[in-house]
Amino acid sequence: MTKPNVFSGVQPTGNIHLGNYIGAMKQFVDLQDEMNCTYCIVDMHSITLPQDPKQLKETTLDVAALYMAVGIDPAKATIFVQSTVPQHAELSWILTCHSYTGELSRMTQFKDKSRGSESAPTGLFTYPILMAADILLYDTKYVPVGNDQKQHIELTRDLAERFNNRYGETFVMPEYKGITVGARIMALDDPTKKMSKSAENIHSRISLLDEPGKVKKSIMRATTDSDSVIRFDPAGKPGISNLLSIYSVFTGKKIDEIVAQYEGSGYGQFKKDLVEIVNNYLAPIQEKYYDIRQSDELIRVLKEGTEKASAVAERTMKRVREKVGFINI
Ligand code: TYM
Repeated sequence: MTKPNVFSGVQPTGNIHLGNYIGAMKQFVDLQDEMNCTYCIVDMHSITLPQDPKQLKETTLDVAALYMAVGIDPAKATIFVQSTVPQHAELSWILTCHSYTGELSRMTQFKDKSRGSESAPTGLFTYPILMAADILLYDTKYVPVGNDQKQHIELTRDLAERFNNRYGETFVMPEYKGITVGARIMALDDPTKKMSKSAENIHSRISLLDEPGKVKKSIMRATTDSDSVIRFDPAGKPGISNLLSIYSVFTGKKIDEIVAQYEGSGYGQFKKDLVEIVNNYLAPIQEKYYDIRQSDELIRVLKEGTEKASAVAERTMKRVREKVGFINI
């Protein structure tokens, strides 16, 4: 039996954090043995907001190295950079012509990032179409992402269905693949907001490359409530519940087990233990990261990834061009 196709991507905007890891990248690793996985560094999505070109090149390679450092094995999964496969832009345009401004206006991420400004970049508005193109090019069945991307997957499904209805079966219908614990990791300083790469306060997040001292500070000053009872209650106790999710993912223990373990002890001991757990978890990832980042292997892996991804993307585009009536000469 052929393995189902999996596709996902991460923007190379630096500060890859525990939310990105738990919500998405950890799943990437977990799926690579059973499925046919393709993981992209989506640099074209990054330029929907202004980027420093020199830095973008560096952060693109940083994320590629992080993919491998967290355990994505290029022998099992394809790793490549979005802009090196121009079919993404090509399909994105064709899908743009089949999308409605109304459905794009309803995207919450666009509303958050543009804040109603007339000068929001058009790319920010059409960003979910490029994401749909990413997914549909690879006949993707499952898209492992955090739950902030769920709405974009819904739009992708709508576009695929619309296209298939109009031109006949062309695209595979993709599905959101989320996790139960940690699909939305919250900011440490304000657990009502999601952890994000761009928040000003560096203690709102833990980046995968943070030093132990920084991790300690961020966790020890994480916002919790004042009753100091350790209980999982995301609505009533969002701060401690968020820390419990991180603890659970990094130890493999069930939330109930952790709650029982800390019955009667306050937040202080729990946070101290969590600091150690997070630092021990990140240490080997960081060691591997610095090795890979400096090696020639990285570029070799990315070149091979581009070749593999291009072959699949071109196969899909041949089908799509034919369907929409573009001549083949
Ligand atoms: P990006 O780069 O913002 O985030 C990368 C992945 O991390 C997840 N994530 C989180 N998960 C849990 N808690 C959080 N606080 C948190 N913050 C981020 C995101 O859900 C995502 O899975 N549009 C995408 C990138 C993309 C893509 C694609 C994904 C482009 N094309 C095709 C899948 C398929 C984005 O901006 O992710």
